[in-house]
Amino acid sequence: MDIRFVERKDLKEKPDWNKLGFGKYFTDYMFEMDWDREHEWHDARIVPYGPIQFDPACVVLHYAQETFEGLKAYRREDGKIQLFRPEMNAKRMQNSNERLCMPKVPVDIFVDAIKALVEKEKDWVPTLPNTSLYIRPFVFATEAALGVHMATNYRFLVILSPVGMYYAEGLNPVKIMIEDELVRAVQGGTGFTKCGGNYAGSIAGQVKAEKEGYDQVLWLDGATRTYVEEVGSMNIMFKIDGEIYTAPINEGTVLPGVTRDSMIHILKDWGYKVNEAHLKAEDLMRYGHEGKLEEVFGTGTAAVISPVGKLKFKDDVITINDMKTGELTQKLYDTLTGIQWGRLPDKYGWTVEVC
Ligand code: COI
Repeated sequence: MDIRFVERKDLKEKPDWNKLGFGKYFTDYMFEMDWDREHEWHDARIVPYGPIQFDPACVVLHYAQETFEGLKAYRREDGKIQLFRPEMNAKRMQNSNERLCMPKVPVDIFVDAIKALVEKEKDWVPTLPNTSLYIRPFVFATEAALGVHMATNYRFLVILSPVGMYYAEGLNPVKIMIEDELVRAVQGGTGFTKCGGNYAGSIAGQVKAEKEGYDQVLWLDGATRTYVEEVGSMNIMFKIDGEIYTAPINEGTVLPGVTRDSMIHILKDWGYKVNEAHLKAEDLMRYGHEGKLEEVFGTGTAAVISPVGKLKFKDDVITINDMKTGELTQKLYDTLTGIQWGRLPDKYGWTVEVC
């Protein structure tokens, strides 16, 4: 792919790598590409990061025809930079776009765009432990028209943000509230896609959880509000009596997480039985009271592996592993981050070197 380059005059000052937080700083450049029926994907370019201008009637602003992805570039100890399973993100975005009637970005264009931008911005890949360069590719409808329809014009953008930990807690356990009223997804809907609309609809649950002193919301299935599915910003796994449980992705209501998939591979490799099965919230709480719920952890690109120390469902609250990070959670975190930052051999062939 030919990528045109538009240089900026002044480069920004880099933030303090110790105070990054998540998604607050953006690099000097971004990648852009347009789609229309005649030319399909065309005019790939790396341009100065900055505001973009659109018609107030553009479709995404009214009907939310938008999808996005999240992945990271990691700096290894030898200074090289690598990505983690970028093709999985590319394919997931294709599935999201298909559901939202948006043009698919070819896998090679998606990966090459990211590699080119990350290479250009390599000085923005932070060097401290637990820091990385978060990559946010997204596609949205740019056509100006108010009828509800499949738009005729789209843009693919990639922006970059140097980040630390997603949660202020770091690797300390977070508190999660199970939402029993609002729902996130139903079969036949868009739950399996990474579209902005899913997240817009989830904010009310997040606000409710925060008001009660919890960090995140855990969604139940939309049809019966019985079975646990996923958390606001990550998938979730439970260790119950030595076995692992996580919600199935084959019904189209749960996001097929890249970290989720990687953890399932590693856990099976270690000999764990992983049940991708429905789990009732009330059973989960009972296991908690009976001492059978040994560990709970979230999995996500932004959240990495995030231990959960407290769960609330209706008036019931359980504490998991005395609010301490469990042994398995820690081992998974060390293994995943070891592969991502190149401290451990990548026996699964998941990493892709950029430069
Ligand atoms: C990610 O883990 O990359 C996400 O997109 C989750 C979130 C920040 C919305």
